[in-house]
Amino acid sequence: MFQAIRTLLEVEKRLSLHPRTRLCPLFASTTQQKRYFTSYKRPFLHSASQPAPAHTCCFPINSASSKFVTIASVNMSSAVEAKKTSKLEFQRLPLNAVPVHYDITIKPNFDNFTFEGVENIDLKINETSPNIVMNAVELNILKAVWKDSGTGKEQVAQTISVDETTEIFTAAFQPPLQSGTGTILLEFTGSMNDKMKGFYRSKFKGSDGQDKYNGVTQFEATDARRAFPCFDEPSHKATFNISLVVEKNKTALSNMPVKEIQAYPEDDKLHVVKYERSPIMSTYLVAYCIGDFEYVETTSSDGVLCRVYTPPGKKNQGKFALSVTAKVLPYYKEYFGIAYPLPKLDLIAIADFSAGAMENWGLITYRETCLLVDEEETSATSRQWIALVVGHEIAHQWFGNYVTMEWWTHLWLNEGYASFVEFLCVDFLFPEYDIWTQFVTDTFVRALELDSLKNSHPIEVPVGHPREVDEIFDDISYSKGASIIRMLHRYIGDADFRKGMNIYLTRHQYKNTFTEDLWRSLEEASGKPIGQVMGTWTKQMGFPLIRVQSEQNGDTRVMRLTQEKYWADPNLKNSKEHNDYSWMVPVAFCSASDPNTPICQTLMEEKMVTVELPGIRSDEWVKLNPGAVGFYRVRYPPELLVEFLPAIKNKILPPLDRIGLLDDLFAMVQSGESSTVDVLRTLDAFKNEDNFTVWSSISNVMSKLNLLFAYTDYHDQFKKFGIHLFSGIADSVGWEPKEGESHLDTMLRSLVLLRLTSFGHEKTIQESKRRLNLHRNGDQTIPADLRPVVYRGVISEGDEETLEMMLKMYRESDMLEEQDRIGRSLGLAKNLNVLKKVLEFAISEDVRSQDTVFIMISVGMNKVGRPLAWNFFKENKKFLGERYPSGGLIARLVKHLCENFVTEEDARSVTEFFAENPFAGTERTVQQVVESIRLNEQWLKRDERLVGEFLTNAI
Ligand code: BES
Ligand code: ZN
Repeated sequence: MFQAIRTLLEVEKRLSLHPRTRLCPLFASTTQQKRYFTSYKRPFLHSASQPAPAHTCCFPINSASSKFVTIASVNMSSAVEAKKTSKLEFQRLPLNAVPVHYDITIKPNFDNFTFEGVENIDLKINETSPNIVMNAVELNILKAVWKDSGTGKEQVAQTISVDETTEIFTAAFQPPLQSGTGTILLEFTGSMNDKMKGFYRSKFKGSDGQDKYNGVTQFEATDARRAFPCFDEPSHKATFNISLVVEKNKTALSNMPVKEIQAYPEDDKLHVVKYERSPIMSTYLVAYCIGDFEYVETTSSDGVLCRVYTPPGKKNQGKFALSVTAKVLPYYKEYFGIAYPLPKLDLIAIADFSAGAMENWGLITYRETCLLVDEEETSATSRQWIALVVGHEIAHQWFGNYVTMEWWTHLWLNEGYASFVEFLCVDFLFPEYDIWTQFVTDTFVRALELDSLKNSHPIEVPVGHPREVDEIFDDISYSKGASIIRMLHRYIGDADFRKGMNIYLTRHQYKNTFTEDLWRSLEEASGKPIGQVMGTWTKQMGFPLIRVQSEQNGDTRVMRLTQEKYWADPNLKNSKEHNDYSWMVPVAFCSASDPNTPICQTLMEEKMVTVELPGIRSDEWVKLNPGAVGFYRVRYPPELLVEFLPAIKNKILPPLDRIGLLDDLFAMVQSGESSTVDVLRTLDAFKNEDNFTVWSSISNVMSKLNLLFAYTDYHDQFKKFGIHLFSGIADSVGWEPKEGESHLDTMLRSLVLLRLTSFGHEKTIQESKRRLNLHRNGDQTIPADLRPVVYRGVISEGDEETLEMMLKMYRESDMLEEQDRIGRSLGLAKNLNVLKKVLEFAISEDVRSQDTVFIMISVGMNKVGRPLAWNFFKENKKFLGERYPSGGLIARLVKHLCENFVTEEDARSVTEFFAENPFAGTERTVQQVVESIRLNEQWLKRDERLVGEFLTNAI
């Protein structure tokens, strides 16, 4: 029996099943179970398959496995829980042999971009078996020898094979290996690719003007297997000893400090750098970097040696991130109640880098624009972004590295959590950024937007094949994850939240977790039903729309709330599944007499609740969701909504509530419950607005409408409306930075002027031209914050000569932030020949592949450029497919190139193109953009005439 249970538990673990979904001993065989449970489906790929069982199977469990026994009872229909059939064949690694320790030596060759590797992996053999199965891809494995620790006997593998599709490497031994321990020796070679994954090469200009290369790594999610054969799943934690055979004059770094440097007898230009043994950790966190770097360093008050590595000559640009790092480490130590466990922490800027940054334990890698700050060249926006990214990756050192998700289904535990904590950290270091308010216009709203689509997905999503894993590094895992943690944080309060975090991190240190483990710790700390509440937010996609009705009863306000699923597409309200969704929603209110103090915080457990608020005068407004903390939308009847307008005008309502009202109303417009005219009218109440973040929210609304109404005959009138709306605040911020102005005022200036440029405001564009001339002549440098305004203004009316001038500036700049600023401006040109040249430039030798997509996107964001960019994408499909074999960048490109089309014809063209030319890792994105295109079409059809009439009368 024990054996049977163990097998069940293992199958369950292998399949990454949620603990709620137990395997039933009634199944005839594990194969049958496997087939049943792997048939969860992703809705857009397949027709309905068998639903997950509504019941929970029970069987006796020994106490060691008790963590699987507690079952969160989630109050929602099983019909809406994540199910999918993995389209791509996938199986997790068998558990017969598991790694304990890796000893890896890598010798790169920068002449032909190859590397040689020798690896000894200490394994525990759980069951006698002929095969050792692990991951490898694009590696040439030359030799595999097994040495049994018990007998000391060596055995050469009879066969070794790598299946490049499943990325599985199998070494077969005869006679079979006996259970016990031993070491497998592997020798292999590979290539340092230019695809920004695995162990790859990153280009830079040497001081002699020649192209030079650094060798760096990016392993998350599943690319350690490109650098060395390994058990490349997050739950296969082991310790690592890394050694690098490198030229003596190169900097060589890895996760741990250098232990010793040995001579390399075969070549005296080389030496062997050996690093200390790492703590037990997942493969995706291993890293090494070899090349030309310099650094600045300091020791944090909690005794960690911190360094920021930069390209030669730029070490001063590392000082900002260094000071953030040195302050964040003790802050997190205090917050989590656990010290950073490694002796050193390096942050390093990498010129070619696909993501923004990567949290490798002890050696965090960054895109240059996410790490380097130049006092003159870096904008306030970038500086703030860098603080957030540094805070994010350092948060992962605890959340992700110290405690790691068991499988990628729980990726959000890493990314959602770090995306929340980065704000805690920046708020602590830079209170003047008012960063929590910005959280709402950025993170929170972005999550709501994506999650309103029928092609969204639950936070906890079953994934298997690496391509599916790549796809969930999206706004659901990051932004919705962070938003629901913020909601939870408010629900249980900071003290219990910290206590729970400490329990979680301590209990699971150096181990792996499921989402439930986090809930359990927070439940223990707070005594609240966290698993039950939070399950409704992580296991089903979407969020509620809460409709409010109210009536006065003496001095009591009676609020009636009803919840239903919010859909961007109004037709889905009639769908079969609509009523299957329900959430347990922490709700709160505030009222006119004290807008800053939430009242009556309670849990909405049913679809309909009535809340009585005593002591509210009949003339007071009452607002739901103060501070936009709850992850839901609110719909007030028109007569209640107008009551808020005076409080918006005189700013009695706090900024987050002004934003919340505007954005909720805008969501009602998107879903057809209100008209665009309502939102345009409401904007009038924001005339006296002076808060950066509120303006940023207005700007988001206007920018979306500008994209949409570009397809109407009255686009010019719309732009005039926009200019009128922004002119007051533009006059007050002016062009000249004021002595000693705040960070947010600096950001407000560029926000407002940028928006005016997008509306074609002639005065702003003329001023941009004037300032660029002065800048180019060396008479007056444009402050970094205003450069996007100037570049966009100039190119928007520019010709090919203007473009040449800007390309020259691009090529001459050695600061990637500046290149990025120029690159992202180029697509604003209106001249078709200029736009064609911009697209050609984007894929030229002058542009790094990490930056190509952003230049192409800038063209796609422009109505004139959109068809050009889309055709260009199609014409260059082979090139782009090879350049971005999977992952984030290509998905972003697809999203931003396509989602702003507005006709059924475009929707079909996009669908058909990707059906015939699939791009790995973009499947869900394609479904989402097609849905968005159709929503745009409906929206325009609904509101086009009314908005035309409104604008004619308004201007
Ligand atoms: N773990 C990710 C890096 C990553 C992203 C690896 C996608 C593999 C695929 C890292 O912690 C991260 O989240 N980076 C962000 C920046 C962050 C501040 C939001 C990124 O790269 O966009
Ligand atoms: Zn992250």
